[in-house]
Amino acid sequence: MAAYKAVDLARRLRDAEASVTIMMTEASQRFITPLSLETASQNRVYSSLFDDPLAHIRLPAEADLVIIAPATANSLAKFAHGIADDLVSTCVLAATGKKIIIAPAMNWRMYESPACRRNLEILRSDGMIQVGPESGSLACGEEGIGRMSEVSEIIEAAVAALCPKDLAGETVVVTAGPTREYIDPVRFISNRSSGKMGFALARAARNRGASVTLIAGPTALAAPSGITCIRTETAKEMLQAVKGQVNAGATILVMAAAVADFSPANRSNTKIEKKDLATLALDRTDDIITAVASAGRKPFIVGFAAETGMNLDRAARKMKDKGMDMVVFNDVSAEGCGFDVDTNRVIFLDRAGKKELELMSKYDVADALFNRLLQIKA
Ligand code: PMT
Repeated sequence: MAAYKAVDLARRLRDAEASVTIMMTEASQRFITPLSLETASQNRVYSSLFDDPLAHIRLPAEADLVIIAPATANSLAKFAHGIADDLVSTCVLAATGKKIIIAPAMNWRMYESPACRRNLEILRSDGMIQVGPESGSLACGEEGIGRMSEVSEIIEAAVAALCPKDLAGETVVVTAGPTREYIDPVRFISNRSSGKMGFALARAARNRGASVTLIAGPTALAAPSGITCIRTETAKEMLQAVKGQVNAGATILVMAAAVADFSPANRSNTKIEKKDLATLALDRTDDIITAVASAGRKPFIVGFAAETGMNLDRAARKMKDKGMDMVVFNDVSAEGCGFDVDTNRVIFLDRAGKKELELMSKYDVADALFNRLLQIKA
């Protein structure tokens, strides 16, 4: 039933500027037409071994990545045992050396069967990348594991599969989101950080082969797969979590979190009367970067500088004063930049000098940051 999602998958891959060629099994054509997939992929769709006598060799040879979505129990069994009796299974068998993603979709009874579990074990040990399935309501009306993963998860796996693993061996800690400094059980001081910048950094590091821990303040974002996520609230909790990861051997720390500079001097355990809120005594919070930079073992430290206007000299001063190896300047008052948007425009400052980027997605900023980091860290 999940075959219909292949239209969205093809369209989203093309939006990401991939060239998409689709192969269909005979059974899939009972759920979706070749025409709909031809429209979505803007390419010829192949559905028979005999359409084009060499397609089963040429298609996988020309591919950077093979995605089987949905992957039925039957197809998985064929792949696991080298059966090549239709176009899809023949292409997969001929895709030697290529990265292959399988996104299983079936009833939970089939997924949990010893045979299917054995086949998936064989395929994972052969190096295939399994995405999902998810638990939830199934086509047959039952609840359980067996729903094909969301298209966004499959795309994420495709991006990761194609990324060079140039951060392999690095232990990367990223902080993201705001902190909350409580005044009383009801009120707190915080900021507009959504966590998007930090989550993009964590995903980019994971996709490039790093072991990633994401320390996130309160955000609505779900923890990305394949990443250890530690949730914190206050600046103090974030400091403790960062220290713990640095002491555990982190090699790179990227501080994208908007950490509060001040917290209420007296946190009340009961709700404060409105009349008593006119003034609020505040204490400085401990600076996390300074604490890490002045400790014994020091990871490569990347900080962010949130400014309003082109205060590059303030960013440079922060880098020097706090002991950062690199600072990412962003003018959070500029259109499409900074808090709670999907894009950012940044300037890298480091010992190699300065590099200014155009407005781009936060994921692309993250990728560019790690490219720069690897250059200057070398
Ligand atoms: O989360 P998004 O909605 O995607 O928004 C992204 C962002 C705007 C929050 C992000 O791009 C950003 O600019 N993060 C840094 C915000 C910030 O606190 O900047 P700052 O100039 O006040 O702090 C400088 C650096 O010191 C930062 O790396 C910060 O994490 C760190 N810091 C700050 C205070 C503190 N007590 N300890 C720290 O380590």
